[in-house]
Amino acid sequence: MRQVSPINYQIEFEPNFDNFTFRGSEKIAIKVSSPTNKITLHAAEIEIKQCSISWNNKIIKTRAIVNEKTEEITLVLAQKINGNATISIDFIGQLNDKLVGFYRSKYKFNGKEKYLATTQFEAADARRAFPCWDEPEAKATFDVSLLVNKNHTAISNMPVISKRNIGKKTLYHFDTTPIMSTYLLYLAVGEFESISTKSGKTLIRVITTKGKISQGRLSLEFTKQFLSYFEKYFKIAYPLPKLDMIAIPDFASGAMENWGAITFRETILLYDPKTSSTETKQHIAEVIAHEIAHQWFGNLVTMKWWNDLWLNESFATFMATKAVDALYPEWDFWDQFLISEMTGGLSLDSLKSSHPIDVPVKSPADVRQIFDEISYNKGGCVLMMLENFIGPDNFRKGLYSYLKKHEYANATTEDLWDSLGSASRQPVRQMMNTWVRQVGYPVIKVKAENSRLKLTQSRFLLESNGKSKTGKWIIPLSVRTKDRTVTKLMKGPVTIPHKSGWFKVNDGQKGFYRVKYDNNALDELGIQVEDKTISNVDRWSIHHDLVALCLSKQISFREYLDFVRHYENEDDYVVLSDIISSLNFFYILSSGEAFWDEIKEFNLDFFNKIFVKLGWDKSEGERSTVALLRGQVISSLGRLKDKDIVKEAQARFANLLKTGKLEPDLRGPVYSVISWNGDASTYQKILSLYRKAPTQEEMVRLLSTLANFQDKKLLSKTLAFTLSKEVRTQNLFQPIARMVTNPQGKELVWPWIKQNWRGIVTRFGVGNPLLNRIVGSVSIESSMEKEREIKKFFTKHHVPGTEMKLAQTLERIRINSNFIETTRKELS
Ligand code: BES
Ligand code: ZN
Repeated sequence: MRQVSPINYQIEFEPNFDNFTFRGSEKIAIKVSSPTNKITLHAAEIEIKQCSISWNNKIIKTRAIVNEKTEEITLVLAQKINGNATISIDFIGQLNDKLVGFYRSKYKFNGKEKYLATTQFEAADARRAFPCWDEPEAKATFDVSLLVNKNHTAISNMPVISKRNIGKKTLYHFDTTPIMSTYLLYLAVGEFESISTKSGKTLIRVITTKGKISQGRLSLEFTKQFLSYFEKYFKIAYPLPKLDMIAIPDFASGAMENWGAITFRETILLYDPKTSSTETKQHIAEVIAHEIAHQWFGNLVTMKWWNDLWLNESFATFMATKAVDALYPEWDFWDQFLISEMTGGLSLDSLKSSHPIDVPVKSPADVRQIFDEISYNKGGCVLMMLENFIGPDNFRKGLYSYLKKHEYANATTEDLWDSLGSASRQPVRQMMNTWVRQVGYPVIKVKAENSRLKLTQSRFLLESNGKSKTGKWIIPLSVRTKDRTVTKLMKGPVTIPHKSGWFKVNDGQKGFYRVKYDNNALDELGIQVEDKTISNVDRWSIHHDLVALCLSKQISFREYLDFVRHYENEDDYVVLSDIISSLNFFYILSSGEAFWDEIKEFNLDFFNKIFVKLGWDKSEGERSTVALLRGQVISSLGRLKDKDIVKEAQARFANLLKTGKLEPDLRGPVYSVISWNGDASTYQKILSLYRKAPTQEEMVRLLSTLANFQDKKLLSKTLAFTLSKEVRTQNLFQPIARMVTNPQGKELVWPWIKQNWRGIVTRFGVGNPLLNRIVGSVSIESSMEKEREIKKFFTKHHVPGTEMKLAQTLERIRINSNFIETTRKELS
């Protein structure tokens, strides 16, 4: 137990929109477990005006010592205290523009510039708004008040219990929160509008800045559906009287699960039927489901410390897919899970510079870095694997007992294993700890000989030096053959009787591992791919593993391309999407190489075969995933300058300029094709569309489009534009991420980052997770010189919180360089 713990915070905030500061005063009821005259709590960028402690009905003289470096203040008391006491602190803070803590967001309404104030406290930025014990385990209740201008409304986690005019201002009091962690507290002040509905007793609102509320209808509906889905799934009622879904114009991540007041980027909450794509619609559903899942996983039961972040994020990720799939089965969300989660998880975890799901973290900078494909994607995948292993009923029963046992408190991974283990009577802890406490995942090698399959495991690494291949996983193995599926818990090498015929390991890709077959087995599988005797997911899985084996030089590029020919009659979205992304990746990676044209021809041919089956326009009753595939193919063909595609895209773009009409799902693809093949005048047209874009979704689309041109002068203009006032900080990485996939652009990005690094860091603020997106973008580089140069630069201009991403980026560059060198030899 800690020596001093908070019980209740009574806090009043008064934001000042003239000088962007806020005044705060708080009374923290604390419990002291052994006599002390020193109390340390977190605070950052806060000026303490006054502080005192009341204990045993007297005021104890108190002095505050600020330590900016550790983000702490220490209160030194004139005498020792013990038991119950109350700390009173008056302070002043900044409504900053760094998207963390209590910050300001700017937008326009009717041509006028406006500001709102909002908070983002996860992981460790509540301390920027008020002195507190800013750690997930220090749960307390909160009584929030906000004193605001009369034209403003105030929002917090709980409903308003009283509202009263004081001079020119209004004082809002909010109801007491349940016992909760500081990172989930929420405050907002601004001119908002809202729509509402009810789900049972819960009031649901969607809240936006003025003029946008009509775009909140879809989200209101989704919220209602997912809230009730989770109440039924968990069999635990949502505990607060209300749930707000708030669209914020400036927002660092995608969305944030503040209890009862979830915040979003506008692109993830607002939907405009005229311009929003299918992808946007599905993403909105997924993110809403994710954040609502957190109301149980994270908010009601919270990880004890950030090393168990995955308990929050993997569950929300996994449960989101489960919920969306239950309500919209026609979207094939478990198939799409392969693209949205499995791909990123397997990819990052195949690096030596990856980390275990359970990872020691100390400083806020450490914590920020692990919001990555391990904590989200890999974690989500191992939960899918576990649910599949113990069965959905046991899984649900185990979750219920875990949530019930730890509600309004904190838990660890071991607590979860206890509940799932008892519910299923399976060796959950033993098996799962091999996936959670150990970095990486296995590749299973299969050999068929003497009527038997011999399976062995070792760690899969993209950059292998033959040495670091340790690690053993307890794998829920499944092997499918023509007439049966064998399942087994694989610890060491395994032998399975098998006379003849094809076999597919990792049936339905339920396991988080890869498979390497010998040539004969692979040939047999090629036939199954062609005949579609195996499922789309299995066809995806074979291709997906081959790409990785190719990048890690375990098969040659030629062998890979030869196998892809088996997919010439493929029609499934996830399978084709994986092939298209891989072919595009190899294409951009090989730009400038002698074999570049060969890849180009291969891709053109492959993509065209897909396109002829799809055409430009939707056919009646087609699946939503077809729209996603069509977009991907059209963009890919446009990049290869396919004449017919370019002509049609130009015609549709001209029509858009004339009539304002263009099918939402074709907007991204058409912009992409015409910009790739466009000149300075096209550039101007895109720029002016950007300047008058009706939604942020459309703005982001057009902004990325500016990175597609082939003229380096135009691309340099885009890079300069990216740092101008016309681009929100939150969107800064968008054109960069696109430009590195442009053979003309990729050479410009690194020099530009280098030159502007200081400015970029200042704009984001040290520790902003968006910085890692910039660092990660150069992972498309493919030479050892660049690798050394980038390493040298970032070592010299070190920014805390980028260490992991940097190591991963450098490793990817080395892998790319290795691949290029090998393939150069192979194909020359
Ligand atoms: N808890 C996170 C938000 C967050 C991310 C806070 C990073 C602090 C640092 C939230 O639940 C989340 O996961 N948001 C995702 C969206 C999700 C659907 C992948 C995001 O912001 O990308
Ligand atoms: Zn989350």
